[in-house]
Amino acid sequence: MSISQIARSIGESATLKLNETAAILRAKGDPVIHLGGGEPKTRSPVDAVVAAAGAINSGEVRYTPADGIPALKQAIIRYTDDFYHRKVEPENVIASGGAKQAIMVCLQAILNPQEEVIFPVPYWVSYPEMVRLCGGVPVPIPSEDGTFYPRLADIERRVTSYTKAVIINSPNNPSGAMYSEQFIAEIVEFCEKRGLYLIMDDIYHRLIFDGKRPINCYDYAKDLGENSRLVVVNGVSKQYAMTGFRIGWAVASKKLTKVMINIQGHQTSGPSVVMQKAAVAALEGVQSPVENLRLTLENNRNVMMALLKSFDGVKATKPDGTFYCFADFSYYDKDSTRIAQKILDKVLVVVVPGVEFGMEGYLRLSTCGSIKDIKDGIERMKWVLDPNSPNELYIGDRKLVRDWS
Ligand SMILES: Cc1ncc(COP(=O)(O)O)c(C=O)c1O
Repeated sequence: MSISQIARSIGESATLKLNETAAILRAKGDPVIHLGGGEPKTRSPVDAVVAAAGAINSGEVRYTPADGIPALKQAIIRYTDDFYHRKVEPENVIASGGAKQAIMVCLQAILNPQEEVIFPVPYWVSYPEMVRLCGGVPVPIPSEDGTFYPRLADIERRVTSYTKAVIINSPNNPSGAMYSEQFIAEIVEFCEKRGLYLIMDDIYHRLIFDGKRPINCYDYAKDLGENSRLVVVNGVSKQYAMTGFRIGWAVASKKLTKVMINIQGHQTSGPSVVMQKAAVAALEGVQSPVENLRLTLENNRNVMMALLKSFDGVKATKPDGTFYCFADFSYYDKDSTRIAQKILDKVLVVVVPGVEFGMEGYLRLSTCGSIKDIKDGIERMKWVLDPNSPNELYIGDRKLVRDWS
């Protein structure tokens, strides 16, 4: 089979593959615990569900403008005003098939072959592949001090004449780290000065803990006119537990937005009208589901952190937000793929190897599930990894016996 060079460079999405593995095991009746997931388990808001059902029932399910129906663009404009105190116009907004497509069309709009896109390590699994799909070169930048918090100096050092853009995701998938206000201010100023695009992937910005407030990148931008290269990405997937609805968006200069819309028009003709109507309803409906989800996640994070303390060898930094905890398991095995596979094979717990996010030796543990899942999942992991664990473990009425040291 002859496939393109670009296609050959693209790997499978590790996180989607794990979802599939968990689903197959579950279908077989195996008592699998999925600590690898990237989606809340709560129900989508009633407003969204009713709106989607109404749109389907109308029988008028047609094409929409490629950049979204006016009502959705208005809802995004209001969202941008409420959360970023920035007034934008419909021409600054594109609604896409998830935040993923918004980032993708943005990269397609700005990248020439071989141009580089910088992002801090650890990073969301899709950034390198999305950049490669556009013929660009991903440049992941580890923080020199080994923390989850990038420093401008680390990024500055890696900027070349090929650098076109920087992607910042805070709070971050997989680390849950929310970058400091000082760092956001510095990176906004730096990108403006160097003429770089700055893509702020803010998909988790309302899911933050410990009384922290979201940081607004626009507060530090000097130029918000037509030459601005700041792109802010968001969506309903995470905050409203609407991952399957596939609605996200980007806010950018009118010139860039127009190019992104052209690309999206040829790519998908825009997101489904049914899902757009659901997203409008979520954005304009009762907002308590977002706060309820945030509180649940904060509580789950606390439980996860307390349980991880019971491991001798695990180092875990307290996440500031999101629904992930990225913990260092290298004491047990430096190969994160091997350790994740062992955990899955022996005790049916799904976790994501840190190497997929650019940090070997770590595992990403999700706090999306129930407290029971978190407790049982961590207990099973401890049984596998801790040589001092008892010889036997019961999962329901299944008896597992240790056959490794
Ligand atoms: C950092 C980050 N950005 C974007 C996305 C994509 O979001 P959506 O489901 O809206 O495409 C995800 C989903 O996992 C994510 O973790």
